[in-house]
Parts: sequence; structure tokens; C-alpha cells
Amino acid sequence: MVYHASPARYESMEYRRCGRSGLKLPAVSLGLWHNFGDTTLLENSRQLLRRAFDLGITHFDLANNYGPPPGSAELNFGRILKEDFLPYRDELIISSKAGYTMWDGPYGDWGSKKYLVSSLDQSLRRMGLEYVDIFYHHRPDPDTPLEETMAALDLLVRQGKALYIGLSNYPAERARQAFEILNQLGTPCLIHQPKYSMYERGIEAQLLDTLAEHGVGSIAFSPLAGGQLTDRYLHGIPEDSRAASGSRFLNPEQLTEEKLAQVRALNALAQRRGQKLSQMALAWALRGDRVTSVLIGASKTSQIDDAVGMLQNRDFSPQELEEIEKILM
Ligand SMILES: NC(=O)c1ccc[n+]([C@@H]2O[C@H](COP(=O)([O-])OP(=O)(O)OC[C@H]3O[C@@H](n4cnc5c(N)ncnc54)[C@H](OP(=O)(O)O)[C@@H]3O)[C@@H](O)[C@H]2O)c1
Repeated sequence: MVYHASPARYESMEYRRCGRSGLKLPAVSLGLWHNFGDTTLLENSRQLLRRAFDLGITHFDLANNYGPPPGSAELNFGRILKEDFLPYRDELIISSKAGYTMWDGPYGDWGSKKYLVSSLDQSLRRMGLEYVDIFYHHRPDPDTPLEETMAALDLLVRQGKALYIGLSNYPAERARQAFEILNQLGTPCLIHQPKYSMYERGIEAQLLDTLAEHGVGSIAFSPLAGGQLTDRYLHGIPEDSRAASGSRFLNPEQLTEEKLAQVRALNALAQRRGQKLSQMALAWALRGDRVTSVLIGASKTSQIDDAVGMLQNRDFSPQELEEIEKILM
């Protein structure tokens, strides 16, 4: 069926300025790490993207290696884009990344100019795009001079293959050095993509201050800790869940009794607030102004509904924040 985006798509979303840039991002963005590769039915992936866009999620996040197999998420996204979303291209922020192992040999990994330039060319071909809106270096490379990696990102912007530049998984000090090089080159960094959730709070120590100082926005990935901060695992491990899928990022051993006791306590608090745990976890990650957008994954359209529904109840009382700290201790 031909897709016509919902005329109400801009009514339920909040758009937040990304650092000191001109770009606004939706408070909720959708990542294509899981559920867009060749092991997922294309029709399911299509429904996820349609529902997201109908609810005002204008930002879709990809990477060269998303799949499985690596590259297939971009290929499948490219097909859905061509069939459903081409009339809406200018309403979308599409990102990709390079930095993890993508192809054999010394030029398919890390942060050399050789890798980044050829990888973005490949990503553009897979997605059928002339440019991405944001191109990220996916992880810091301890061996390539930072100047080379940043110059490659700057080059890609000058070539018109990316509009903005982002960094992911860079610790605070390395990020600061990179921002300074990018500023000198005249291509300021738009955004940092760190892991952040109630269970992964490393960025609170320093990175968030560094981003604020440099006017760089942030998009928090895995804000639901891969599904742990939801009601998914309250009554065992469902067959269709990520923890049952053999993922090396979330396995049944991680769901310890201690963790589940925390999840139950958080769930009870969310219920008292009149929302789902997943919604409370997203609202918590967005509290204050320091995180621009939460970058969720979804296997079902109802999970996208939940995420956007969170915007109805985003505020916390000091007592609620304190209770969360106590539960997480
Ligand atoms: N830069 C990086 O290095 C990096 C690394 C990882 C991820 N990312 C980005 O971040 C995105 C999100 O990562 P993520 O998928 O780990 O995020 P997440 O939002 O923490 O976890 C998503 C998973 O949680 C479950 N879920 C979501 N909403 C739910 C709800 N309302 N109720 C119950 N369960 C729910 C689903 O799992 P089920 O499958 O069990 O339904 C879903 O696939 C990725 O797609 C990618 O774009 C970036």
C-alpha cells in the first residue's frame, strides 16, 4: 500500500536544538541497529519506520555495520526509503557511521581517512542517498592521529556527502581535543552519541560538561539498556525478546535477581507516576537540558507508541529523583 505520512505527524513530538547548531532533533529518535537486517521481515521494518515518522520521529540512525549481515540495515532502509519516504527526504535526518570492523584488510576498520571516505561512499550507495545528514566516527581510534580522522570528517562535509559531523563513544578528553581540531577546520562537531541510561551513567562525570562547554548536542543510545529498563523481563524472558535472541549485548545472565529487583522497584514507581517503566526511563534520560534526544530501538510499533507517549509526562519531583537514586544504589 502506498504510504501517506500522517498529517498530524508534527503534533505529538517535541523538537530540541542540537547544541549551538541550527538543527533541531526530535526528543525521541529511532535507531536501526536491531530489527532492520536480513533476519527481520522487511514489512516489519517498514511498519516501524512508518509508525515512527507518523509520530514525528524525523531522525533515523544507522551505521555501516548494522544488520545482520553488516550493511543490510542500510540496504533495507534504502529500499524502504525509495518506496515510502522519498517524498519526505527533506523532512528526515538520516545518520550513518564508520569506525567498527566493516570489511577485510587494514582499510575496513578504525579511523583512517582511507576507511572513512570509502565507507561513507558505500553507505550512500546502499541507502541510495546523495548525502547523509550526520556522519559519525563510531569509536575513537587509539592509533590514527586525531588530526587525520577529523580532517577526513571535514572533507566529507566539504564534498557534500554529509551535512554535519558527529562522534560516538569518545571519552571526554578525546572528544574535547577532537572538537578543537574540528573548530579549527571550520566544521564544528554537531553531536556526540554516547551510551546513557539509568544503568550507564558514565557521561555524567565529565562528558556532559565538555559538550555544554563546546556547544555540542548529545543523543543517548540504548536509553532502555537494550530493554532491561522496560516491563519486558518482569515475568521471565519472552521468546521474541532481545535477551532470548543470542545477542552478545544482552543475555539472560545479565538479568540477575538483583537487577530484576531494581526493575520491579522502578516499575512500581513508574506505575505511581501513571506511566510505563520504559517511559519513565526515557523521561529520566532527557531530564534537564543536557541530552538532546533519546535514541531508542524497537521491535514492535507499540514500543514506538510507548516512547512518544512518554512526552506527556516528563517531569520528576525531587522526591521521585531521589527514589530512583536509592533504587539504583
Ligand atoms: N554508537 C554506538 O556505538 C551505538 C551502540 C548501540 C546502539 N546505538 C544506537 O542506539 C539505538 C538504540 O539502541 P538499543 O536498541 O540498544 O536501545 P534501547 O532503546 O535501549 O533498547 C531497545 C529494545 O528495548 C526493547 N523495548 C523498547 N521499547 C520497549 C517497550 N516500550 N516495552 C518493552 N520493551 C521495549 C526492545 O527489545 P525487544 O527486541 O526485546 O522487543 C527494543 O529493541 C541503536 O539502534 C543504534 O542506532 C549506537
